[in-house]
Amino acid sequence: MTNYKVKFLPDEKEVEVAEGITLLEAVEKADIYINGLCGGEGLCGECCLQVTSGKARADKNAIGFFSKEEIENGYVLACQTKVEDNEPRYILAFPEESETGEAITISESEIGNLIKSKGAVFAAMKSLIDYVGLTFDQLNTIYVAGGFGSSLDIPKAVAIGLLPDVDTSKIQFIGNSSIMGARMALLSTPAFEKAVDIAKKTTNIELSNYLPFMNEFMAALFLPHTDSNLFSSVHY
Ligand code: FES
Repeated sequence: MTNYKVKFLPDEKEVEVAEGITLLEAVEKADIYINGLCGGEGLCGECCLQVTSGKARADKNAIGFFSKEEIENGYVLACQTKVEDNEPRYILAFPEESETGEAITISESEIGNLIKSKGAVFAAMKSLIDYVGLTFDQLNTIYVAGGFGSSLDIPKAVAIGLLPDVDTSKIQFIGNSSIMGARMALLSTPAFEKAVDIAKKTTNIELSNYLPFMNEFMAALFLPHTDSNLFSSVHY
């Protein structure tokens, strides 16, 4: 959930609120008194505000209280108006095409965040595999752990450079491995001993201080990657 700063004039009181909350809730958070006789039902028209910058999505009920000119000048009912991102959004699915009935959209900054996240994941894998002198092709299996992994579409994850370009049958989802591992270690002595043995053989590398990781991260900030040889099966 994205947070936005909302500033109220003339007192210049500023509050940070989550996207989608109403301006009336933001007003209350800023400790500003505003008339709201109907308790935020959109019936009394008392909670009138003017939005002078940014984007706030007014509910269609608000239209009945204001003239066309007032609406053009940003007048809204605070209780019926939600704080919104003012960044342009690409529509991936129109409301009639999505199962929820709401449009599925993505913004430029969200794409930027995705590129950084997938770049960090791939850079971590690449720098670790280089550290032990292997290539991705030499791995028998790549285990993807965590709830996030189970929703991944593997070919698409490879196409954006999140997962290495290997035979996709080598990539296995194992769900929440930490909970499963803890359960097994608690219930089974051999499993516990195996966990202790694996821990003894593990080398810890602090990626935030590891220069090769930073170099790999910069190289991975591209779709799929700056080195197309690493993703030879990906064609656009
Ligand atoms: S509080 Fe009554 S219309 Fe907003």
